[in-house]
Amino acid sequence: MKQLDSVIEGIQDSKVKSKQLKEALQFIENNRDAIKKENKPRYHVIGDIGWINDPNGFSCYKGEYHLFYQYYPYDIKWGPMHWGHVTTKNFIKWTPQPVALAPDESYDENGCFSGSAIQVGDKHVLMYTGHLDPDKENPSSIRQTQCIAIGDGEKYVKLKENPVIKTEQIISKSNLSDFRDPKIWKKDDYFYVVIGNRHEDGSGQILLYKSENLIDWIYVGVMCRSENKLGRMWECPDLFELDGHDVLLTSPQEMKPEVYRFHNVFGTIYMIGKVNYETAEYTYNICDEIDGGLDFYAPQTLITPDNRRIMIAWMQSWERNIPSDKFGFAGMMTIPRELTVKNNKLIQNPVREIENYRSNKIGYKSMEIDGEVRLDNIEGSCIDLIIEIPKVNYTTFEIKLFKNEDFETVLSYSPKEKVLTFDRSNSGSGINTLNKTTIKVESENDEIKLRLLIDLYSVEVFVNDGEYTMSSTVYAPQNAQGISFYSDKQICVNIEKWDIE
Ligand code: FRU
Repeated sequence: MKQLDSVIEGIQDSKVKSKQLKEALQFIENNRDAIKKENKPRYHVIGDIGWINDPNGFSCYKGEYHLFYQYYPYDIKWGPMHWGHVTTKNFIKWTPQPVALAPDESYDENGCFSGSAIQVGDKHVLMYTGHLDPDKENPSSIRQTQCIAIGDGEKYVKLKENPVIKTEQIISKSNLSDFRDPKIWKKDDYFYVVIGNRHEDGSGQILLYKSENLIDWIYVGVMCRSENKLGRMWECPDLFELDGHDVLLTSPQEMKPEVYRFHNVFGTIYMIGKVNYETAEYTYNICDEIDGGLDFYAPQTLITPDNRRIMIAWMQSWERNIPSDKFGFAGMMTIPRELTVKNNKLIQNPVREIENYRSNKIGYKSMEIDGEVRLDNIEGSCIDLIIEIPKVNYTTFEIKLFKNEDFETVLSYSPKEKVLTFDRSNSGSGINTLNKTTIKVESENDEIKLRLLIDLYSVEVFVNDGEYTMSSTVYAPQNAQGISFYSDKQICVNIEKWDIE
C-alpha cells in the first residue's frame, strides 16, 4: 500500500492544462465583465458567468476559506460540470479563483460532480464524483465513481489512480448510477468519506468508507437509509461532530410535502445522533427540515480554526426558472451560517463576520404598529433587519419587503396558529412555480424575533436566534426598495436596521 506522504508529495504541478480546462478559463476571461456590477447580488456568491449549483469543497486551507461549486460557465443552465472556485478570509467578500476542475478525463468526461475538500500536510485535497453518462436515452447506463485531485489552493492535479472508489466497490443491492457527492474528513488515523447512494428499492442511503492513504478505500457500511420514507435518492451528505452529537445532513430528492415542511420536493434534512465508526451504523432520534424557505439545497459545512461549524448552501431549488438568467447568471449561495445544537435542534445564525460589514444603524424601540406603517429610513435591498414582536393580542403581523407601486413580498406571522408564511407571489419575480410557503414556529414564550438578511435577490429569515430559517430568492425589480409593517391590532415592536456594505 502506498504511504500517504508519497501520494501527497508525488503530485507534481501540472504545467499542461487540458483542452477543456483551458477553454473554460479562456471563456471566463472573455466574459468576466458580461454581468453588470449593478445586477449582481452584493454579498452572495455567484459564478463569474453562467450557471452554478451545489457548494463543493468548502474548507479551510492555509488559513483561508475555499469554496468551490458546481459550475457550467457556458450557459445559464446546467451542463457538464466543472468546479468553480472562490476564496475568502471573512465569508462576506469573496475573491474569484481559476476554475479548479474540468470534465477532461475518461472517468469524469460528463461532469466533475459534487464533492468536498480537506487540507493534508500543505496540500489541498479535493474529492469529487466522476460522472459518466454514455447513453442519454438510458439513465441506467450512468456510472458514478469517486476521484481525487490535489493542489496548492489554485491549481489542482487529478490522481493517476482515479477513480479511487470504483463501481466494484459499491455494495450489492445498490444502484450503480447513483453513487455521488463524497464528503471527506479525518478522524484519528483514517480519512472517512460519506457518499450518497440509492438502494435497489429506489430509496436513498448513505455509505461510509475509510482510507489511510486517500487511494485505497475500505467499505465500512451503510450509515442509514431513507426506506422510501424520507424522500428517495439522498444527495450531498455531510457528517460532523457538533456540541457532543454526530449531525448528519443530506438533501433527499422527491420528499413528500407535509403541511408545514418539505414544500420544495427537493428537500434538506438534518439528523442528530451517533455514529458507530466500526459498523458505520448511525442511530438518530431527531430528524427535521434544515430550512423552510423556497430556495435551499445541498448544504455543506467546514470547521474554522476557532472551531466554528459553518454551513453554506445553494440558494435555489431544482426545476424552477431563475429570472437572473437575463443578466447572465443563474444560481447563488446562501450567507454562510454558524451552526450549534441546542435543545435537540440545529440552530443556524449568519456568520458573525457580517457584523463588520454593517453600517448606518437605525433603531426604533417600542414602535407602535397599528394597521400599515412605513418608518423613516427603514428600506433597502442590501440590509440586515431585526424585528422583535412581544406576546400580545394580535392575529397577523406582516413585513412587506421589496415594495414599489406594483409589487411586494410578504412575510407574515400568525401567533394563534404559530405559523410563519413567506409569499413572493406578487413580488414581480417571474418565478413559475411555488411562490408561497409556511412553517410552524414553536416558541417557548410566544414572542418572536425575526432577523432578515436581505440582498438584491434574496431574503434569508432567521427566527428566534436561528431556531428556524427560511431562505428564498426574490427577483423583484431593482426600484422595489420599500419596506412596511402591518398589524391588525395595535402592538409595539423593536426594530433595528443596518445597511450591509
Ligand atoms: C445535487 C446534485 C448532486 C450532483 C450535482 C450535479 O444538486 O444533483 O447530487 O453531484 O448536483 O451537478
